[in-house]
Amino acid sequence: SKARFIFDKDYIISRIDNRIYGSFVENLGRCVYGGIYDPQDPTADSDGFRQDVIDAVNELNVPMIRLPGGNFVATYIWEDGVGPRDKRPRKPDLAWKCIETNQIGTNEYMDWLQKVGAEAMMTVNVGTRGILDALNLLDYCNRESGTYYSDLRVSHGYKKPHRIKTWAIGNELDGVWQVGQQTPFEYARIARETAKAMKRQDGSIEIVAAGSAGQEYPTFGDWEQTLIQEAHPYIDYLSLHQYYLNVEKDTANFLAKTLAFDDYIKSIGSLIDYMKVKNKSHNNIYISLDEWNVWYHTRKDDMATIRDRGDEWPIAPRLLEEPYNFEDALVAGAMLIALLRNSDRVKIAAYAQLVNVLAPIMTDKKGQLWKNTIFYPIYYTSKFGRGTAIQGVIDSPKYDSKDFTDVPVLDAVAVLSEDETELTVFAINKSLTDRLDIQCDFRSFGRLEMIQHVSLENEDVYAVNTLTNPDCVMPKDKKVTPEANHLVLESLSWNMIRYK
Ligand code: AHR
Repeated sequence: SKARFIFDKDYIISRIDNRIYGSFVENLGRCVYGGIYDPQDPTADSDGFRQDVIDAVNELNVPMIRLPGGNFVATYIWEDGVGPRDKRPRKPDLAWKCIETNQIGTNEYMDWLQKVGAEAMMTVNVGTRGILDALNLLDYCNRESGTYYSDLRVSHGYKKPHRIKTWAIGNELDGVWQVGQQTPFEYARIARETAKAMKRQDGSIEIVAAGSAGQEYPTFGDWEQTLIQEAHPYIDYLSLHQYYLNVEKDTANFLAKTLAFDDYIKSIGSLIDYMKVKNKSHNNIYISLDEWNVWYHTRKDDMATIRDRGDEWPIAPRLLEEPYNFEDALVAGAMLIALLRNSDRVKIAAYAQLVNVLAPIMTDKKGQLWKNTIFYPIYYTSKFGRGTAIQGVIDSPKYDSKDFTDVPVLDAVAVLSEDETELTVFAINKSLTDRLDIQCDFRSFGRLEMIQHVSLENEDVYAVNTLTNPDCVMPKDKKVTPEANHLVLESLSWNMIRYK
């Protein structure tokens, strides 16, 4: 079938904040222990961090990493994770019903972030702890010296402060599963007072306030409104989370769900604007979409395992190890396109998570590592999706699915590179059956030449990459056609096309 797109230099969405290519690391399952950190692994460096993982994370070029949770934060005591390692207590983690050994804590995290070239988004526990603990951690991390907590950090061997700029106030606190669950008003007040005090202590920081656990939760909407009403002057970003599922095995409907993703961002954007008018505020709040991905393959079984564990409290068991398939990679690619299309609102984002848990990077013992299918759209978008996002005018065939009508089969956005010498189009053909023949109009970009076309295609939507078969779903280099006015996308494919 046929489609048409127009990209023009003047159709600017926004300069892209590179932090939209951020990720998330939680003390959960084998993300930290066995993923990032494993002193027994043959690739481990002198600090016990896996070099193969560091290399793969560096490939993804991750500018910001949110840590240490997630749900884990609900019972986390940061003081347990600093100081001499042999003195660190083992504590029950109630979120995932495991034992946390605290061998990796604030300072080790910061060491590791340096190795992968990322800055931190540090989350504080306001569900079971509170303002003072957040202030103490901030002092520990960001003050040069001369106070109890900054001197404590120095005594732990970290003379220079970490100077963490971005701080998140709790996580998904309306979730019924959270220890210390809060009502919208309770959270709004604690978020306001914590942010106010933290900013008073360190005027250089930015605050991310937690949004509702998700669109489907009863408090969604009211949560965000109450939060902004109470805490408007102190918040810089509002955190949103979104995971998609395909339990019905309905590919067409699954791919259409990214329309809802777009809608989700836009409606929260409208709420933010409304609250700005209502509160007569000059403070712009942006969106931090700091958990996004597909999550459903392992979900039910994992939750049952945790529920049925009885007296067993394992250390770093296999949890949430999603074997992402080809259609999941298409959805991840489409979510990245939506983030770019909304880059005027979304300034921070994090695919959840980075290693082993809901992850693009998977590890096994003895230096074995493979890349889940979602690695590839993330890799290419992070590499070539930096600069200025350009809105496309798209004329595409449409389809109806179980929950959606008029779903365009073609979804695309373009990025003008930072040096303005290249234009990269990210595009998906959602048609299960038809190759798409696209007439391309680049208007004011003048004469362009295609220099690369990478496509993720597979005959089997359920194809996965595994330790023994790691290259099952891999991007292909397509034949480059020098004329820029015509493009062919295979049915069910994610594509990156670069022009000069
Ligand atoms: O990423 C897994 C979990 O999903 C996080 O801990 C939580 O914030 C979300 O519900």
